[in-house]
Amino acid sequence: MKGCRAVGIAGGAEKCRYVVDELGFDACIDYKAGNLWKDIKEATPKGIDCLFENVGGEIFDTLLARMNAFSRIALCGLIAQYNTEPYPMKNIGSVLVNRIRMQGFIVSEHMERWPQALKELGQGVATGKIKYRETVAEGLENAPKAFIGLLKGANLGKQLVKLI
Ligand SMILES: NC(=O)c1ccc[n+]([C@@H]2O[C@H](COP(=O)([O-])OP(=O)(O)OC[C@H]3O[C@@H](n4cnc5c(N)ncnc54)[C@H](OP(=O)(O)O)[C@@H]3O)[C@@H](O)[C@H]2O)c1
Repeated sequence: MKGCRAVGIAGGAEKCRYVVDELGFDACIDYKAGNLWKDIKEATPKGIDCLFENVGGEIFDTLLARMNAFSRIALCGLIAQYNTEPYPMKNIGSVLVNRIRMQGFIVSEHMERWPQALKELGQGVATGKIKYRETVAEGLENAPKAFIGLLKGANLGKQLVKLI
């Protein structure tokens, strides 16, 4: 949104530099640096009004403690919680106290809007308004290595496997 401060969260200094220098975010938090609460607090001096949540677990829980009154959360994914025990959220009370509106969504429920979305996204890429990176592994034999790298965050941008 125009005029809003945008803060990203990415794993590692190189990805954070990319998010700020190339994607134009105002700040980026390296969640692997070990100072999650301090870094989130410094990056969001006025709290958080809108959160697009992709990760879950400790990061989401910590962000909950920075949400403003009447703020909103679009709950897209909980990737940190998929292969582990359920995460015991400590700050869920923030949803009540701050009257937060949280809405989950599943992209396949909106298939009727795909043609419009693809058109707009395609135009965004063609005009350079949308920037992206890909990490491409060559050949099916390199897919397992690429997958393991993905779980460790070795990829920058979308991890693809090129079948040759
Ligand atoms: N609601 C829907 O309809 C819908 C549809 C598709 C996907 N999703 C969800 O959207 C999210 C992103 O999907 P994607 O396809 O964009 O995935 P992706 O390209 O593979 O990106 C996943 C990123 O998540 C970060 N990550 C992974 N494990 C993490 C952890 N334990 N803690 C913190 N960060 C972690 C990594 O960031 P770093 O590299 O910076 O470490 C990784 O690059 C997922 O949660 C997925 O389930 C939702």
